[in-house]
Amino acid sequence: MHLNIILAILGLASLAAATPSLNPWEISRLTTFSPSGRPGSSPWSVINVTIADPNGLIVSPTFCVAKWTFEEPPYGKVNACSDIPGGQWKFEMLESDSENPSPTTDFKLRFELRKHDETFVGTESFRVGENMSGLCSASGVCSFGLKEEKTPFLVKQVRAQ
Ligand SMILES: *[C@@H]1O[C@H](CO)[C@@H](O)[C@H](O)[C@H]1NC(C)=O
Ligand SMILES: *[C@@H]1O[C@H](CO)[C@@H](O)[C@H](O)[C@H]1NC(C)=O
Repeated sequence: MHLNIILAILGLASLAAATPSLNPWEISRLTTFSPSGRPGSSPWSVINVTIADPNGLIVSPTFCVAKWTFEEPPYGKVNACSDIPGGQWKFEMLESDSENPSPTTDFKLRFELRKHDETFVGTESFRVGENMSGLCSASGVCSFGLKEEKTPFLVKQVRAQ
C-alpha cells in the first residue's frame, strides 16, 4: 500500500504534511589549538567540536576534528565527523569576512547532517572576545574555546535542497 494511503487511514496525513519545527543544533564544546611554530615543535593546529542534533528520540553527539599547518589553511575542506547511529555529520571551516580572520580565533563553521535521505546545513561564526576565550602561553602555544556561558551554542540549520 502507498505510504500516503496508510497515513490517511491512520488520520496522520495532515501531520505528515506539516513541516515539523526543527530545534537548532547544539554545540556543547568547541576548542582550538595553535602551535608555537618553533622549530622541532608540533606543526599542527587543531579544532575539536562536539555537536548534537536534538531532533529525534536519541541524541548522539558527534566529534568533529580537523588538523592543519600554517602553510596549508583549513578553509573549504570538507571533513567527516565521527560516526553516529542513523546519520553522518560533515563540517567545513570557512574564512571569516572580518578584519582579522584566523582559523583558531575568528572563523566560520559550516555543518552538514545527512539522515534518512535528508540533508541539513547550518553555518555559524566564532570569534575570540565575542563567544570564545582563551590563552597563549609564553612559548607561543595558544588554546581557545567557546565561553562556558555560551554553551550550548545553538546553530540554526535548514533543510538543503
Ligand atoms: C575531541 O574532544 C573529545 C571530547 O573532549 C575527545 O574525546 C577527543 O579525544 C578529542 N579529539 C581530539 C583529536 O583532540
Ligand atoms: C559569536 O560571535 C560572532 C562574531 O561576532 C557572531 O557572528 C555570532 O553570531 C556569535 N554567536 C553567538 C551565539 O554569540
